[in-house]
Amino acid sequence: MAPLIQAENLVKIYRMGQVEVPALRGVSLTVEPGEYVAIMGPSGSGKSTLMHILGCLDRPTEGSYRLEGREIATLDEDQRAEIRKRRVGFVFQQFNLLSRLTALENVEVPMVYLGMPPRERRKRALALLERVGLAQRAHHRPTEISGGEAQRVAIARALANDPALILADEPTGNLDTRTGREILALFRELHREGRTIVVVTHDPEVAQEAERIIYLRDGKVVPKL
Ligand SMILES: Nc1ncnc2c1ncn2[C@@H]1O[C@H](COP(=O)(O)OP(=O)(O)OP(=O)(O)O)[C@@H](O)[C@H]1O
Ligand SMILES: [Mg+2]
Repeated sequence: MAPLIQAENLVKIYRMGQVEVPALRGVSLTVEPGEYVAIMGPSGSGKSTLMHILGCLDRPTEGSYRLEGREIATLDEDQRAEIRKRRVGFVFQQFNLLSRLTALENVEVPMVYLGMPPRERRKRALALLERVGLAQRAHHRPTEISGGEAQRVAIARALANDPALILADEPTGNLDTRTGREILALFRELHREGRTIVVVTHDPEVAQEAERIIYLRDGKVVPKL
């Protein structure tokens, strides 16, 4: 099978007026379908920048990024958005739920973008909330649930488009240890079901859950920190 992710020599330079900030300086990596990979590195080492590229939110200044064999680096914003909505699920440290929508409606959002009929998406959203153990919170808004519950909703939302790739940037960063472990258990189950997961973390306990750790330092992959 072809790699799910194949990145070669990714360079990302942010331009701020006259100043150039190099965030990635030649990152190459491969992730196979079904792998569970952690990315670790000091603050500012380029982890989120890399995640944005892997998630097709941004494109590299130089280098090649192939997702499921398709070159992403040369695609424009609309083309990347199209791939994102079909193939990628995101989980963020701050959950990023829409505060005016209920848990159920938040999970429905990606399916609205996919043009799924309301009945079908409502049914699927409920099933996903059940999947993460939150069916009983379906009609609560984000302010009416705990942090751990909010992250579960976010994970259900990330699964809504049946993504080829789940990307998580510090998914337990805002949670206490016990709640963080519940989220890790959920990732473990998703991995067992064959999902591909790439998780950025500072936390060795989170990284240890993965099958493999990729270390970044100063925008480069290094053997260890
Ligand atoms: N939008 C941006 N514009 C300019 N510079 C940026 C931008 N985003 C990140 N940077 C810079 O690029 C470098 C890498 O940032 P990045 O956010 O990828 O680091 P990180 O490893 O995720 O750090 P942290 O662990 O603190 O989240 C840093 O020097 C940062 O200041
Ligand atoms: Mg970051």
